[in-house]
Amino acid sequence: MLSPFKQKLIEDLIATSSKEELIWINGYLAGLISSGVLAEEGKPSAVPNPKVGKITIAYGSETGNSKKLATDFGSKAKKNGINVKVVSLEQYRLTDLPKEEYFFTVISTQGEGEPPAGAKKFYDHIHQNGFQLSKLKYGVLALGDTSYPLFCKAGEDVDAQLQRLGGERIVSLMKCDTDYEEEADSWFSTLMDKLHDNETSVSTPKAPAAKKSSGKKIHSGTVLTNINLNDHGSAKQTNHIEIEAADVEYLPGDSIGIVPHNPIAIVEAIIATAGENADKMFSFRNEQYNLFDLLRNKINIVCLPDRLVDAYSGVVKQQIPQTKIGLLDLLKIYPVKDAEQFEEVIALMEPITPRLYSIASSPEAHPGEVHLTVARDNFIVNEELKYGLCSDLLCLLEEQSEVKFYIHHNSSFRLPDAGKDLIMIGPGTGIAPFRSFLAERDATGAEGRNWLFFGDQHFETDFLYQTEIQNWLETGVLTSVNVAFSRDQQEKVYVQHKMQKHGVELFDWIEGGGYVYLCGAREPMSVDVENTLLKIIEEHAPNGTNAEEYLNQLKEEGRYQKDVY
Ligand SMILES: Cc1cc2nc3c(=O)[nH]c(=O)nc-3n(C[C@H](O)[C@H](O)[C@H](O)COP(=O)(O)O)c2cc1C
Repeated sequence: MLSPFKQKLIEDLIATSSKEELIWINGYLAGLISSGVLAEEGKPSAVPNPKVGKITIAYGSETGNSKKLATDFGSKAKKNGINVKVVSLEQYRLTDLPKEEYFFTVISTQGEGEPPAGAKKFYDHIHQNGFQLSKLKYGVLALGDTSYPLFCKAGEDVDAQLQRLGGERIVSLMKCDTDYEEEADSWFSTLMDKLHDNETSVSTPKAPAAKKSSGKKIHSGTVLTNINLNDHGSAKQTNHIEIEAADVEYLPGDSIGIVPHNPIAIVEAIIATAGENADKMFSFRNEQYNLFDLLRNKINIVCLPDRLVDAYSGVVKQQIPQTKIGLLDLLKIYPVKDAEQFEEVIALMEPITPRLYSIASSPEAHPGEVHLTVARDNFIVNEELKYGLCSDLLCLLEEQSEVKFYIHHNSSFRLPDAGKDLIMIGPGTGIAPFRSFLAERDATGAEGRNWLFFGDQHFETDFLYQTEIQNWLETGVLTSVNVAFSRDQQEKVYVQHKMQKHGVELFDWIEGGGYVYLCGAREPMSVDVENTLLKIIEEHAPNGTNAEEYLNQLKEEGRYQKDVY
């Protein structure tokens, strides 16, 4: 109940407000309550919590999800009156660790169960042992993806190692799948409760009870269009695929994850070569599958990593030279002796990992749809042309066929405010997120300027989305476009050469608050482009500017964002 004084205040406010203002107040209060920023008594608390000194929230993030969570947690903790420092594990001073009293980590897993590149130094440091963290009270929130064989491995390792070093776990490890928001919030609420309640429960260490993940949301879509964007005579095949899928929520910059299945012909050939029965049950990673299902949907059989080829060689006791090889060829060339050896081989196989593709559509311009730009990967093995498993499946999808996928959020590849200028560098399939950005900016009438650098081999055959790009140029959505077709002349010309040529103007856009985005091949493209950016800064920034520091500052401000693969 309100006091008469407060009741009167509310009545006066209502009496003097328009309908729109009342709707706004209603939404404001609802938002305030659901955001969790109200202290228990209902007031936004600004009074420091005297029971807890400073806390540190350190994140290790590759695509920005852990960073975003850590930053949000930081502001919520501040609103709860807690003195908090949010820092990336990349920049964290390792010598501070033994001095920490409250240290919380949000860390994702990358590669094959590894920490994000920026967190590697921290990860290696704590694994050297040799020191004690007796003062430390800690908690770990691990981000990952259940489709990977080593789910949340980096987070698990950090959690276990901090305990080994003498730290006291005050909140259990939480392992989150790609739909992490709810679980992450619940982990953070538990943490806040512990901190507020620290006299009783903080000193009582709690056994880690890793909560089972609720899993990710798998969407099912229907292929509407699947066309090759390259013309006859191109050395490449790049498909534009439109998938209809209701209720899919994503933002420009996000990707989709697809777990491909293996071709039936290869699955059947493996079963025949091994002299096995398709219905025979096999145990794989603590689950039972019949052999057909296992080979078709669960394990990677097409292009085995060297470590698996080595392990196979150990089972069959034969020397196998290092080469790109699949299970079928291994079984044919270096056969197993009997059913027992085949079982051994199956046990050492690894699950199929998901493949990520940047979304090329915009939620505003293409509601209910997800578009992809997929290069059909090809390579030669023993003089035979082979295709990449997932890109091949996608490029061959018939219209009206079904495709299953999930959304991979990429919080560190996001459009800025509508008024900001964008410089987008995206050769080859790197164009995909920029088609999304441009379509979104077009549909929402964003007033910032847009500049695109695109490149590929030949103008005639490889200018992906040429008509759309030209339309955007005509309608003014694109202020500038610079294209580089590397093989149309003797000297190779790449996007970085075009950037260099327009260095003065490019630097001017950056100095004016512009945002730089880079998407596409990690090597050599992204390295060459980044070196060119540094050169442009060196040449055009005032004397005495340190180009690396300048670029790092842009990164810090979110004005230089990369999505490279
Ligand atoms: C190339 C790549 C490899 C990944 N490897 C793993 C893995 O081995 N285990 C896992 O649980 N998650 C893995 N993930 C999933 C990420 O951990 C997950 O998407 C997470 O939300 C990313 O958070 P971040 O943006 O903070 O890096 C991988 C993601 C990518 C892009």
